[in-house]
Amino acid sequence: MLDVYEAVTSRRAVRGFTDQRVPREALERVLSAAAWAPSGSNLQPWHVYVLTGAPLAELKKRAGERLAAGDPWDEREYEMYPSDLKSPYRERRSAFGKERYGALGIRREDWEARQRAASANWDCYGAPAALFCYIDKDLGPPQWADVGMYLQTVMLLLRAEGLHSCPQMAWAKYHRTVAEILSPPDGLILYCGMSIGYEDDTVSYARTCRAPLDETVMFVGGQARRSHAA
Ligand SMILES: Cc1cc2nc3c(=O)[nH]c(=O)nc-3n(C[C@H](O)[C@H](O)[C@H](O)COP(=O)(O)O)c2cc1C
Repeated sequence: MLDVYEAVTSRRAVRGFTDQRVPREALERVLSAAAWAPSGSNLQPWHVYVLTGAPLAELKKRAGERLAAGDPWDEREYEMYPSDLKSPYRERRSAFGKERYGALGIRREDWEARQRAASANWDCYGAPAALFCYIDKDLGPPQWADVGMYLQTVMLLLRAEGLHSCPQMAWAKYHRTVAEILSPPDGLILYCGMSIGYEDDTVSYARTCRAPLDETVMFVGGQARRSHAA
């Protein structure tokens, strides 16, 4: 069994899956354990649908058809990013773009190639299973954060089953097509999808970097680290 550190460091957004079936029992184990994720006042504000087999194939087909037809995205149910992303987030986003598309040999100015690579989102990068996570539209930022904790818990538990994942806000752009397949009750917003499966290790990727610890974390009080105390 993976220890928690290994689960955390081996999780990454995998963008190439084999078609090997994901056992239903593994998904049930993961989602039963993930239900223990924390949430403010234990609201458990996640609404999750797991899709495999024919319904997932149908969703991919419909999304692919919309993409091929150049259909506009559905109206937004939430803002994914501020329109004017400020520093240091802007620089981090552009570093991510370089890492992601650089690994595929795509140049920064090659917009079409980037779009082609991004279109694999709506094929779930080949994954045979996917999860769709909704949140009640009346809930606010603290509950969205709860959902984030829940989804990370799911992704870490998937590692313990030898599975990989890719969380995908991209699916929110086609939330109407997802709703055609899932028929969620009124009043829910599709936060994201998540592709789930076994990694296709023939697909090249670059490991994303992280900001140095002292850029995002401040230790206040306690013992100073030796290197800093000198
Ligand atoms: C909420 C959320 C939405 C994301 N949406 C997408 C997406 O639509 N498509 C995609 O390929 N990756 C998506 N990602 C993956 C991020 O790009 C990835 O987590 C980030 O670049 C860090 O890389 P790593 O997860 O491989 O460590 C998303 C991640 C999160 C947490």
